[in-house]
Amino acid sequence: MTSSPPPWRATVLTLFPEMFPGPLGVSLAGRALASGLWALDARDIRASATDKHRSVDDTPAGGGPGMVLRADVLAAAIDAVEAVAERPKLMMSPRGRPLTQARVAELAAGPGPLIVCGRFEGIDQRVIDARGLEEVSIGDYVLSGGEIAALTLIDACVRLLPGVMGKLESGSDESFSHGLLEYPQYTRPQVFEGRPIPDILLSGDHAKVAAWRLAEAEALTEKRRPDLWAARPKASESGKKRKSPKFTTDG
Ligand code: ADE
Repeated sequence: MTSSPPPWRATVLTLFPEMFPGPLGVSLAGRALASGLWALDARDIRASATDKHRSVDDTPAGGGPGMVLRADVLAAAIDAVEAVAERPKLMMSPRGRPLTQARVAELAAGPGPLIVCGRFEGIDQRVIDARGLEEVSIGDYVLSGGEIAALTLIDACVRLLPGVMGKLESGSDESFSHGLLEYPQYTRPQVFEGRPIPDILLSGDHAKVAAWRLAEAEALTEKRRPDLWAARPKASESGKKRKSPKFTTDG
């Protein structure tokens, strides 16, 4: 008898497990979850509290506003997770390294992360250091907690898992996977409020369509994201030929 490997799994440590699966329970991710292509455990950090009030937080050492998540309680919650040594251990935080499509692809290719969601003013630094938590930010703005950031990260990973997307082309032929923003898309009606679909897309000439899409993607990236534009791979770099993005015309 052959046993299939366990599916990709996200284990989330949170004070609000009822926020999961939330939006990940519907649509693409939800169907994949129901069919066993991935798994999700949302665990309550409070279950690892030891005192009679089940307290998880305390006032910050040195004073200041708000409450700080206790190192001992969070460490116990982390240590209770199975196979924790083999999995990436992330902590969602606005002071983390910005999440990128490249990091998402790495996480999707592994066994699936353990994700700590912060709340309050912060988490005791000693547990971050002692358990080697990788702090990850989803952008330069502050959410009220890490849960929505964790949902975002998990969604970005799940859509890359084998079997989730169906028509795989749409998983790679899009913004960021080759360092360019996505070209504009059109469908019926042929004219909307006086705006026609660009002729070239109706020409049936696949090579011309691909060239038009590449030019549009490049123009958009240069205008909106000068950071991505400056960092794009160049033909001259290290004598290697630039791998051109594959813009297919048939999805
Ligand atoms: N928690 C609060 N804000 C966040 C952000 N921008 N990214 C990740 N986690 C967060």
